[in-house]
Amino acid sequence: MGYRHIDTAEYYRNEKEIGQALHETFAAGLKREEVFVTSKRSLTDLGLDYLDLYLMHFPVAYARGDNFLPFDDKGQAFTLDIHFMETWKAMEKLVDAGLVKAIGVSNFNISQMEEVLTNGRIKPAVNQVESHPYLGCHRLLEYCTAKGVVITAYCPIARPGSQEAEEYKVGSLLEDPVIVEISNKHGKTPAQVCLKWQIQRNVVVIPKSSTPARIKENSQLFDFELSEDDMSAINKLDKNGRLCWFSLACTTHQHWPFDEEF
Ligand SMILES: NC(=O)c1ccc[n+]([C@@H]2O[C@H](COP(=O)([O-])OP(=O)(O)OC[C@H]3O[C@@H](n4cnc5c(N)ncnc54)[C@H](OP(=O)(O)O)[C@@H]3O)[C@@H](O)[C@H]2O)c1
Repeated sequence: MGYRHIDTAEYYRNEKEIGQALHETFAAGLKREEVFVTSKRSLTDLGLDYLDLYLMHFPVAYARGDNFLPFDDKGQAFTLDIHFMETWKAMEKLVDAGLVKAIGVSNFNISQMEEVLTNGRIKPAVNQVESHPYLGCHRLLEYCTAKGVVITAYCPIARPGSQEAEEYKVGSLLEDPVIVEISNKHGKTPAQVCLKWQIQRNVVVIPKSSTPARIKENSQLFDFELSEDDMSAINKLDKNGRLCWFSLACTTHQHWPFDEEF
């Protein structure tokens, strides 16, 4: 379909498959430098020599066990008392060693960004956070833009019909009357409008779909433009509609990020 940005992580349990698919594509002629691979762990599993972007997935350090991400009997993840700055300093060494071209963070709030920007040697290239019209992250975007840090939006169409959308009463973004009206006006789909809104405010988007027609739809964004009125109507939909609270994973930890407004 022409996508060139791959976002993965150890947590998604698909690095081996993605590595295999990439190698098939390289064998068919695509060059490594023509794809941008972001991950939150491993070169070995992906079978690559370097990552374009390596992200710290979460500010809280999880304990490693025989099981991936082990939980205690209260359903909370086992965590470690390792400060994210310690992890960041280790990641900086990977840039020095040429194993990763750029490093960044994910799910970091403004105070945590401030700490990395103040105490780190290398500036984070990216902060990857949940963002869609119901969770605009307007403060964080303004802060990161001023500091020259790119925001990447995950869940950019707010996981339509998911359990979390129901559990956290986020609702169905793709059926929102404002989004539907704007999409009808432009002859585009609600998902395309949500993605275009992010692109027009300089936010990178990483929609996920396993449906070929939607994968294509989500890439057809460059033949229309949202007006200023469209942009501000979408901005007003913000309602702190977070889907990914990582609530099983350490809400009591001092570095759990979502106590602060994004
Ligand atoms: N850093 C982090 O902590 C973090 C957390 C979560 C996600 N992420 C990243 O962000 C990516 C996207 O997030 P996400 O998958 O959670 O949420 P999302 O992209 O907002 O939503 C994915 C869901 O939307 C459906 N969908 C996709 N395109 C659609 C369209 N055009 N119309 C209607 N439905 C559509 C998909 O269904 P089908 O697949 O059935 O088509 C899938 O169920 C992930 O793949 C991952 O790389 C990062």
